[in-house]
Amino acid sequence: MTLVRSTLSFVVASCVLLAAEPNDTPGPAPKVDRVGFPTGYAQSFQILRTNPRKDEFKVVTVYGNAAAASITNLAQLPYPNGSIIVMETASVQKDATGKAVVDVQGQLIKDAVLGLHVMRRGPGFGEAYQTNRTAEWEYVEYRPDGTYLTPPEKSATCAACHVKAGAQKDFVYHGRFSEASKP
Ligand code: HEC
Repeated sequence: MTLVRSTLSFVVASCVLLAAEPNDTPGPAPKVDRVGFPTGYAQSFQILRTNPRKDEFKVVTVYGNAAAASITNLAQLPYPNGSIIVMETASVQKDATGKAVVDVQGQLIKDAVLGLHVMRRGPGFGEAYQTNRTAEWEYVEYRPDGTYLTPPEKSATCAACHVKAGAQKDFVYHGRFSEASKP
């Protein structure tokens, strides 16, 4: 009986432990979406940079709204509040043999948009990330239909990594700037 009872309390204790595990929220994050799905970004934002990833059959395109695109030199940093940067990942067209198709200029051809990493800078934004705060940026990841891949409340992972880009770069890894143009 004692054995049964202690086994039972072990089981109960384990369940409590499991229930107490963090539900894949790695840290504090905003509870509401102040980033907003960037409707029409492909038409109205400027392309800051493209990064073809031929081996992964993907094209990454970084877009900026007018405020974000106004930064053309690292000496102008930080980005003005109101800046929105969208990093779009798209699959590429393949031929029947599974090889990536290229256009006449030798460029990969985008197929479907897989996801949008979006960061927006606004007055007072970012405070919810606490120690991972990256100035006044907040982050969200959307599917092209506007549903969430990473909702605001799970976006601590974004801030925790962008914090490593550093305040000197205003926590933006590249934006329009390539690896070579470090501040
Ligand atoms: C493990 C580190 C890491 C995580 C996590 C991460 N990022 Fe990034 N992010 C990067 C790096 C590195 C780049 C530059 C990639 C490139 O230009 O090829 C980048 C680029 C970006 C850009 C384009 C602007 C820039 O910084 O160059 C946006 C927008 C962005 N990330 C948003 C997000 C969002 C939203 C999330 C969370 C859903 C996120 N990131 C999570 C490392 C990270």
